[in-house]
Amino acid sequence: MGPLAVTRLLVLVSLTVALDNGLLRTPPMGWMAWERFRCDVDCKDDPENCISEGLFRDMADRLAEDGWKELGYDYVIIDDCWMSRLRDKVGRLQPEPSRFPGGIAKLARYVHDRGLKLGIYADMGYLTCMGFPGTTLDKIEIDAQTFASWGVDYLKFDGCNSNPVEQMLGYPLMSKALNATGRPMVYSCSWPVYMGGLPPSVNYSLLGEICHLWRNYDDIQDSWDSVQGIINWFSNNQDDLQPAAGPGRWNDPDMLIIGNFGLSVDQARSQMALWAIMAAPLIMSNDLRNLDNSARAILQNKVAIAINQDPLGIQGRRLLQEKSRVQVYWRPLSHSASSLVFLSLRTDMPFLYHCSLDKLNYEAGNYEAYDVFTDSTVTGLNVTTEFTVSINPSGVVMWYVYPRSSQADTVHRRVSESRVHPAGPDHRSVL
Ligand SMILES: *[C@@H]1O[C@H](CO)[C@@H](O)[C@H](O)[C@H]1NC(C)=O
Ligand SMILES: *[C@@H]1O[C@H](CO)[C@@H](O)[C@H](O)[C@H]1NC(C)=O
Ligand SMILES: *[C@@H]1O[C@H](CO)[C@@H](O)[C@H](O)[C@H]1NC(C)=O
Repeated sequence: MGPLAVTRLLVLVSLTVALDNGLLRTPPMGWMAWERFRCDVDCKDDPENCISEGLFRDMADRLAEDGWKELGYDYVIIDDCWMSRLRDKVGRLQPEPSRFPGGIAKLARYVHDRGLKLGIYADMGYLTCMGFPGTTLDKIEIDAQTFASWGVDYLKFDGCNSNPVEQMLGYPLMSKALNATGRPMVYSCSWPVYMGGLPPSVNYSLLGEICHLWRNYDDIQDSWDSVQGIINWFSNNQDDLQPAAGPGRWNDPDMLIIGNFGLSVDQARSQMALWAIMAAPLIMSNDLRNLDNSARAILQNKVAIAINQDPLGIQGRRLLQEKSRVQVYWRPLSHSASSLVFLSLRTDMPFLYHCSLDKLNYEAGNYEAYDVFTDSTVTGLNVTTEFTVSINPSGVVMWYVYPRSSQADTVHRRVSESRVHPAGPDHRSVL
């Protein structure tokens, strides 16, 4: 590309307006293929699990029929390896016909008929990460148009096989191109991953203007090591990352792997709790056709989901890192509520952790806490009350904390409401 072309693109980019189309006021929820199904294109020997229209129809059926959609899990997202190796005669991307014989538009209709939305994958570069056709700068407009014409609702735009200059031009251009289609689409940008994830290389104000969410860090793998590494990186860099998030603009620590092979029940709760605290997308990558009851219960935990989806959209923070290898996380929520997560990185036995709300910067007052994973309530907390939580190794205790007016304590307790619905209409809607 000559200098004149670059200048022209830069002018276009500088004219880019925010992709502010009202989508994702809360983090997206749904299902995505990559972590569990990768680039399995072997439909001959592995027909149930290969990247094909059947896999996405199966997952749409499960989301629609097994109670996921009602909880907010409504995106079905295709990742890499859906494409044919060749663009069509007029230069459009096309699905691999042997694996997507009905085409993407038909799959989108299938997904929409079930009250769900369809996401797709493309790559800012000359090839996708797995070597399928990429979206070079000259292809951005046609690819955005193609996705819109198919009825796609969400684009994950990866960044393999491009350089920083192309990315600086391409990510804003795609935002503009998606907007220009007239079809409201979610735009997920992998750009920061390729720039090291942190300022000054990454401009989070700009990302917030052009993307709805962005991958900041490495791909998740099916292990506690991977989950723990992600939690550490996000927490160690929270001063840069936390302010970037808000309604319509989210950090993305990657998919939920709950229900796969790598996490114990406690570790699965830890991932759910931390993703809720971090206002992270709740996008599962598991096999919804074969999910055990404990994974299902964790992923369908209504209070954990309500914390994640809180309308204020403030990302939480790590408050404390104790020598005991207990960490405390906090997220402010609407209606003067908040969530606390006590995470143990110990490897010995359940640990008794002693604390009080004033050590966690709470204001004077009376509080109660709903224990999210044990469905019990901790009553009679004021800021100086010493409390003790028992945290399993690599596990969490997660609280939904809400103020309790002292007046309410002096009037007759409504016994029928005192355990699960303790705090008046606002908190009742969450619990
Ligand atoms: C395009 O951008 C404008 C300005 O931010 C916004 O009002 C509109 O909703 C967007 N449309 C789509 C389809 O994204
Ligand atoms: C980051 O992007 C914002 C919004 O586009 C812009 O105003 C600001 O100048 C950029 N910051 C840097 C350091 O480039
Ligand atoms: C806080 O609660 C403790 C008991 O947990 C009690 O001893 C103390 O007086 C209370 N303080 C205030 C200010 O209410």
